[in-house]
Amino acid sequence: MSVKPYKTEKSSKKQQVANMFNNIAGKYDFLNHFLSMGIDKLWRKRAIDSLKHLKEPYILDVATGTGDLAIMANKRLGAKVTGVDISVEMLKVAEKKIKDSDLEDVIDVLEGDSENLPFSDETFDAVTVAFGVRNYENLNKGLTEMTRVLKPGGLMIILEFSRPAVFPFRQLYFFYFKKMLPFFGGMISKDKAAYEYLPESVLNFPDGETFDKELRKAGMRPVERKKQTFGIATIYVAEKQKTQ
Ligand SMILES: C[S@@+](CC[C@H](N)C(=O)[O-])C[C@H]1O[C@@H](n2cnc3c(N)ncnc32)[C@H](O)[C@@H]1O
Repeated sequence: MSVKPYKTEKSSKKQQVANMFNNIAGKYDFLNHFLSMGIDKLWRKRAIDSLKHLKEPYILDVATGTGDLAIMANKRLGAKVTGVDISVEMLKVAEKKIKDSDLEDVIDVLEGDSENLPFSDETFDAVTVAFGVRNYENLNKGLTEMTRVLKPGGLMIILEFSRPAVFPFRQLYFFYFKKMLPFFGGMISKDKAAYEYLPESVLNFPDGETFDKELRKAGMRPVERKKQTFGIATIYVAEKQKTQ
């Protein structure tokens, strides 16, 4: 199930993932919006709007990367946000964006691993992750840690790629994902392996009900699954039970 970015290297998946995002950090935002034709912004907006009933929540954004989801959570919900990521170069881009938007008082980012989060139990009202869980070395450990730091009754929102099931979107998607995306992504980022890893990791990652099972194993109760754009991505909403 676990796919690594650089096939010939012996290092752990976590180390390789951190190196890969360090390599592409400068081009990440541009490529994200270019390769998704801007639709990733809409998906993030919908993911954050799953929390719109919360009043000024305290949110942990795991695998925050360049901070887009964290910034959106503050703008749309008035949330105070802490972001963590294992890639220092991605965090540098996030820090600059937060500073440029004058949000340093309400968003902070720090180096941190989802599989060993540096926070006390039951700290956050919600935990969010966009396009991060697929990259975890140990999915269960990452999800269990995220559950631990959530307050009872708190929500976990996970936005992740999934696989469309219906003709012709499935066929078009596979063509785009396996052929065009590695070509353009590799050319622009100069890290071809990174954009070969992207489709490969998506094809080998649990989606739909299979991912909900992973959430249950980590102690969460899946509440809703919202397919985005014919199922290219899915927003998973899960709740931490009040009595654990
Ligand atoms: C595709 S990027 C997503 C970034 C951001 N959430 C977004 O929506 O653009 C995935 C991020 O997950 C981070 N990541 C991977 N494994 C992680 C882990 N175990 N703990 C924290 N961050 C991790 C990577 O460093 C990378 O920045």
